[in-house]
Amino acid sequence: MTPYKIPPTTGPMPVDKIVGRLNEIEDIYQHTMAGSLVISMIRRMGKTLLLQKFAYITVKENRPNKAIWFDLMKVSDVTELTDTLLMELTKHKKHGWLKVQFNWCKELYNKLKPPEVKVSTGTSYLPEISFKLPEFKTEWKKALTACIEDLAERKAENDEVLTLILDEFPYMLWQWILNKKVQNVIELLNLFRSLRMSLQEKEKIRFIICGSVGLDVVLNHLRSEYKYTAEPFNDTKSYVLEAMSDTDATFLCECLALSGYTFVDDKMLCIELICKQVENLPFYINKTFEILRSSSQSQISLQNIKNALNELLTNVNDDDVFEQLDTRIASYYPKTESDIMLGILDYLSIQTIAKEEDDILRSVDFTPKEVKSILRVLCKDQYLNRTINEEKRYYQFKYEIFKKWWKLNKA
Ligand SMILES: Nc1ncnc2c1ncn2[C@@H]1O[C@H](COP(=O)(O)OP(=O)(O)OP(=O)(O)O)[C@@H](O)[C@H]1O
Ligand SMILES: [Mg+2]
Repeated sequence: MTPYKIPPTTGPMPVDKIVGRLNEIEDIYQHTMAGSLVISMIRRMGKTLLLQKFAYITVKENRPNKAIWFDLMKVSDVTELTDTLLMELTKHKKHGWLKVQFNWCKELYNKLKPPEVKVSTGTSYLPEISFKLPEFKTEWKKALTACIEDLAERKAENDEVLTLILDEFPYMLWQWILNKKVQNVIELLNLFRSLRMSLQEKEKIRFIICGSVGLDVVLNHLRSEYKYTAEPFNDTKSYVLEAMSDTDATFLCECLALSGYTFVDDKMLCIELICKQVENLPFYINKTFEILRSSSQSQISLQNIKNALNELLTNVNDDDVFEQLDTRIASYYPKTESDIMLGILDYLSIQTIAKEEDDILRSVDFTPKEVKSILRVLCKDQYLNRTINEEKRYYQFKYEIFKKWWKLNKA
């Protein structure tokens, strides 16, 4: 494939310009044939772009199983959730491939709406109904169920499956918890579970739950604070999104370089160094190019690339870059746990090699039980990597670049 021009960005990008990730897309496609999926990963790994591309490809290539991406980041309550789903579904319906009638939704709506409210005729992009009426405040479960049931009853090819990608679903729940809507969170999780069970039988709908806050974080909080005992996602697989392949990372650099950059040293050597320095993490590749533009007049040399990494790791004004690794811990874990996490990360960041569990236990000031359980969490959250050698467990930062940053800025 020939590289195409893309400007370095750390925000959204046109879906047809999103680079690579085809192997990941096929993996996820295979998973969704069998069931639902949870993808939780630290921020800025490329989850959203990957899933947007996934949805785009399934539709563009007219695959038997298609997916729709929903952004739930700003959804502030349960009725808004149904409306957000309806809004996006209506857009896809307009594109012709999604053949859904919304009969259950309309029936429920007509039954409960006040008589003076007229059903709008809708436009191609706007749904005919909105459940944001006071009448639906207590009926949100029925509204959401109707919406999902309508989807399940859509006209579909024989064994076609529709995947609903709920991006930032755990984050949305977390915001609800912070806004004292815990009861809604619990009821929504229960509703989803029963819906998924009944729909699974019909084999027509799957979910991909994605977000930078792990679903585990939300569930653990509910368990410890609200005695929540259900396992709403115990039947879903989890998927770990890794850094880009060498091929994808190289291609991304080639595309970015077309935005007015000049190679002073050998092009392939420079690209290799950029990818190696940031371990093929696409966000940090974009960041490197941004710095090369602002600090080196878009001149790419081996020395400028090294300087860019230095700036990336030490610039205290650009909080968005790494600071999230730290703030995320304080925001989502109780202090008793976050203190242990920070202690372990501080310790591991100044080690040159992977450390054995016993060494870690000796070096931090917490009980073995606490440390062991937190080590598990840090691995699940992708901060750390665990290897087993001669029956001993060893831990180190998963990405060297995060370790360097932690050592320079936190430890
Ligand atoms: N496939 C890709 N092609 C080009 N750039 C990418 C790709 N994946 C990630 N990036 C870069 O990384 C940035 C973050 O990607 P994205 O928003 O998908 O991450 P995320 O994991 O969803 O982050 P968050 O947890 O903050 O929502 C993008 O703005 C872009 O700079
Ligand atoms: Mg995202």
